[in-house]
Amino acid sequence: MTNLILIAQMRKQDRQQERIKKLAGTKCKGAKKIKGTGTGDRLRNKDQQKGKQKLITSLARFRFNKMVNKVSKMDCRLGLKMLPDECIDLVVTDPAYKVISGGKPDKSKGAPSGMLSLNDGKIFRHNEINFSEWLTEVYRVLKDQSHCYIFTNFLNLKELMDEALRVGFKAHNLLIWEKNNATPNKWYMKNCEYVLMLYKGKAKFINHCGSKTVHQFNNVRNKQHPCEKPEDLIQFYIENSSKEGDVICDPFAGVNGFALAALKSNRQFIGFEIDEEYYRIGQKRINDYHLSSSKVVWESSEDGQLAIVL
Ligand SMILES: C[S@@+](CC[C@H](N)C(=O)[O-])C[C@H]1O[C@@H](n2cnc3c(N)ncnc32)[C@H](O)[C@@H]1O
Repeated sequence: MTNLILIAQMRKQDRQQERIKKLAGTKCKGAKKIKGTGTGDRLRNKDQQKGKQKLITSLARFRFNKMVNKVSKMDCRLGLKMLPDECIDLVVTDPAYKVISGGKPDKSKGAPSGMLSLNDGKIFRHNEINFSEWLTEVYRVLKDQSHCYIFTNFLNLKELMDEALRVGFKAHNLLIWEKNNATPNKWYMKNCEYVLMLYKGKAKFINHCGSKTVHQFNNVRNKQHPCEKPEDLIQFYIENSSKEGDVICDPFAGVNGFALAALKSNRQFIGFEIDEEYYRIGQKRINDYHLSSSKVVWESSEDGQLAIVL
């Protein structure tokens, strides 16, 4: 009798254990296999994920190769997303941001003529973009131990700096471009622009260590873009923070001064410009540069002249 009770108790315990194992998802005799939870399935899922990631990475690489040495006519918020992580050696950019009115000239107070009297905060079509909309992507595409130069004005400096530090950059310095002209207004006339110099990862030296923080470069004459920056100033930053063959990016390319500066320094470039008109002007400048820097050898033939571009 006692034996019978013992056997019954053991069977009860077995059933309980089986129920516990089933609940814990462990395979046990008679338990139904739940799809996608077995070790084999987990490995297969991991492999699939790895494969997917590999495909995404090689697609991004493919797009990167297609975008090198080109300025694409597109929104940089989209363009930057198409680039793989850490593929850019240096960013030098003069981004779009809101500007404020210079006020009306008050001749009684000796205000200079030529002052901006009608300025609704828009000096070109596309300047309604926040730093938070593109800085994270700039940080992502930049390589470790790289530099990033961003032109800014006094009013945007705080917001730009806050956002840059938030996305992970560290600040190196505030550089000053001293121009040979000044913007007329009723206060101190601006004869300089600010450039925030940031870095990603461990700090890296610049190439010309004797460089100072105030840089005198002549402003551009006969501008093709209201905010056009001197090529030689951009070239100075490029040559201080990159080496030959490196890829320089400007997400707000304007009329492509940065691309010409990169070409003149034997660097590669990737740029974006949303405005059709500036994009076209910029393309022509790049084409003209290539034409003027190519050696053209003319060879006579019976049916006329044949140009061979080397
Ligand atoms: C301050 S300007 C840069 C001018 C440039 N430094 C030059 O020398 O020509 C900013 C440029 O960014 C462009 N832009 C504004 N929003 C953009 C966006 N989301 N994507 C790409 N370009 C944009 C504007 O059309 C403008 O040409």
